[in-house]
Amino acid sequence: MHTDTPRYGAGAVPAIRVNNLTKSFDDFVAVDGISFTIESGEIFGLLGPNGAGKTTTISMLSTMLTPTSGTATVNGHDIVTDEDGVRKSIGIVFQDQSLDEELTAYENMDFHGRLYRIPGEVRRKRIDELLTLVGLEDRKDDLVKTYSGGMRRRLEIARGLLHEPKVLFLDEPTLGLDPQTRNHLWEYIEQLNNEKGITIILTTHYMEEADRLCDRVAIIDHGTIVALDTAENLKSSIGGDVVTIASPNPDAVINLLAAPWVSGIEEHDGSVTVRLQDADRHIPGIVTAIHQNGIDITSLSVRKPTLEDVFLHYTGRTIREETGSRKAMQMFRWAGRR
Ligand SMILES: Nc1ncnc2c1ncn2[C@@H]1O[C@H](COP(=O)(O)OP(=O)(O)OP(=O)(O)O)[C@@H](O)[C@H]1O
Ligand SMILES: [Mg+2]
Repeated sequence: MHTDTPRYGAGAVPAIRVNNLTKSFDDFVAVDGISFTIESGEIFGLLGPNGAGKTTTISMLSTMLTPTSGTATVNGHDIVTDEDGVRKSIGIVFQDQSLDEELTAYENMDFHGRLYRIPGEVRRKRIDELLTLVGLEDRKDDLVKTYSGGMRRRLEIARGLLHEPKVLFLDEPTLGLDPQTRNHLWEYIEQLNNEKGITIILTTHYMEEADRLCDRVAIIDHGTIVALDTAENLKSSIGGDVVTIASPNPDAVINLLAAPWVSGIEEHDGSVTVRLQDADRHIPGIVTAIHQNGIDITSLSVRKPTLEDVFLHYTGRTIREETGSRKAMQMFRWAGRR
């Protein structure tokens, strides 16, 4: 996430502007009137469970699907009336792998470069530069079928950047990768955003990914955006940090701490849970007050809320439950087809 003075600002054309965008498949509404603006230079996340409408949104913005209603522009180009303008300014990495396994990494890149009519000399130079950027220069002449999942993902990202897009769409960039590979990819994505100033819009159902990478996160559920802000603001919007105090006398703790600056307080199994903003600043005062009132406590811990808490707050469900059951259903269907 870049933190220097914004490249974006007043007067600049937003990278993406979405207004009441809707997509229906027959009478099923997959994306239901979403609106948002992404400034140039942002890393923007669409976070939501399986079936939320993330891929459908990205597909409309990249002109692969025609919206049922609503409008959107990418780099100032209308997604319906100026498809070419949109296509020239974007790169896409699909959720499903789209590399040619029987070609080398270099050949996959070269093929893509020819499609975009990038002249030979420039093409060769950029391919080398990008394969170096994603750490694949040593393996560029190996067939893709010998690559690991993480290497394939990095190659797809490099390929998506070959025609120097201003906006890069990444649909579930780290799906199914192990934590270490995921971390590496996050670093590449940050580097791209920092060094090349590319606007990145990514979809994910990994809370940690949205939290770690994105300047702003839109939480999408059943085709609508239920919350949109920085991860930090989303987390504070649900009532702040979580402080847990264990005590033989929880009632006394509650009587002492129930104050206007506390956004929630409850007892469970001898532990008192307090929600409040900026807990770190309040802890010394809380501890002093507890001691001054002669109340015993056995432990005190502070936990920052996660985006999982945020998702739960806005949708009443956990993202994992949903993901698990849908994935199981998909596997079941897949098995049935064989
Ligand atoms: N071509 C289609 N025809 C009918 N229904 C579709 C089509 N494409 C998507 N859908 C439905 O629209 C909803 C949103 O799908 P979408 O692929 O956008 O979800 P997603 O958020 O990307 O989910 P995932 O995390 O599984 O990738 C789902 O219920 C899906 O079944
Ligand atoms: Mg998807």
